[in-house]
Amino acid sequence: MTDDLLTLMKSRRSCRHFLDKAVPCKLLETLIEAGRFAPSASNVQAWKFCLITDPDLVRKVDLFSPGLSGKPPVILAICSDREYAGKRGGVAASEILATIDASMAAENIMLEAVSLGLGTCAIKSFNNAAVRKLLKLPPQIEIELLLSIGYPDADPHISLRKPLEEILFYNKWKETCINE
Ligand SMILES: Cc1cc2nc3c(=O)[nH]c(=O)nc-3n(C[C@H](O)[C@H](O)[C@H](O)COP(=O)(O)O)c2cc1C
Repeated sequence: MTDDLLTLMKSRRSCRHFLDKAVPCKLLETLIEAGRFAPSASNVQAWKFCLITDPDLVRKVDLFSPGLSGKPPVILAICSDREYAGKRGGVAASEILATIDASMAAENIMLEAVSLGLGTCAIKSFNNAAVRKLLKLPPQIEIELLLSIGYPDADPHISLRKPLEEILFYNKWKETCINE
């Protein structure tokens, strides 16, 4: 990993304050392009991406999403076609792997957003039934995660990370590096 990539990763922070400024579709589609190149189990790519840009729909989704803050101009619903995933990869693909794949796509998208000067925040706290109704989703399409997207309006809150010593072990539980 280059220092630049690590620096970019470290500068991605959840954005919860957005400017009242539209994001061009071209830029939004660059984000989806980043998501499209994420890895997926057996390359199933069961994901579907819904860019919510209609201000009225954004407002309605916001109303049903307690975890969402900062009035973003765009909300991305990262969905997966669970039926397709199941047909391609069985029960595990449908019930677990599709969600992991969507998470991989989400991180790609959030990192690409940083490089384009956009802020994002992952949102899991939303009323699934209400939002899927607003988006007119068919039954096989599951919403995995929402991402708020927009131009940041303030420096993000810096959430701390646990130190490496607390989260890393080598080979077996609690062992340390053997070839310094
Ligand atoms: C799966 C997932 C769900 C999340 N759901 C919410 C949410 O509903 N509301 C919210 O404000 N932030 C949400 N977050 C953002 C986390 O709170 C945030 O990533 C974490 O505090 C670390 O901060 P950072 O993103 O600024 O590094 C979610 C993040 C993840 C990965």
